[in-house]
Amino acid sequence: MLLKSGLIFAPLLLGMVTLAIAGPLHAQCKVEWYFGIPCEELYKALVSQINKWATATSCATGGQKCLYKLQSANVHFISAKHTTPVAKYVDDLTFRLTSYDLHHHCHVSAMSVSETWYVILDHGTNYCNLYNLMEGSGLTNVPGYKEVTSDFMCTQRSSANCTVY
Ligand SMILES: *[C@@H]1O[C@H](CO)[C@@H](O)[C@H](O)[C@H]1NC(C)=O
Repeated sequence: MLLKSGLIFAPLLLGMVTLAIAGPLHAQCKVEWYFGIPCEELYKALVSQINKWATATSCATGGQKCLYKLQSANVHFISAKHTTPVAKYVDDLTFRLTSYDLHHHCHVSAMSVSETWYVILDHGTNYCNLYNLMEGSGLTNVPGYKEVTSDFMCTQRSSANCTVY
């Protein structure tokens, strides 16, 4: 009987938590990015940045710009993992690249999800996992750069400080 009522209340409780934080239930982030450069260039820049930040050295002075690990990569799809240097949480990152405007432009649909299901608040880490790669590789400065996201699509997006997270 106890077990049964527990099962009934669990989704209710989770729903209340979601409402309380007004964002995704599980810490995660989805961003749509648009660039005025071909996907081929973008793909090379992202892969090179992931490899540059593979070891803990790049976090020696703080921040989270380290411990990225490339899982697979081609001009249409990149997958990687990011481990937070202190808590060792692992987040799964994916980038889906789509050419448009006769291959002169690239649309990137990026997603970061915490593997640990009970991570509900992440201080914007999942957003920063993605944004730091874009910024570090200089992609945020290319012509036609545009970002579409929100607190609803990304846990704690508006309070994220990517220098720290
Ligand atoms: C982000 O954190 C850094 C380091 O603590 C701080 O210097 C900076 O002012 C913060 N930025 C914002 C926008 O709060």
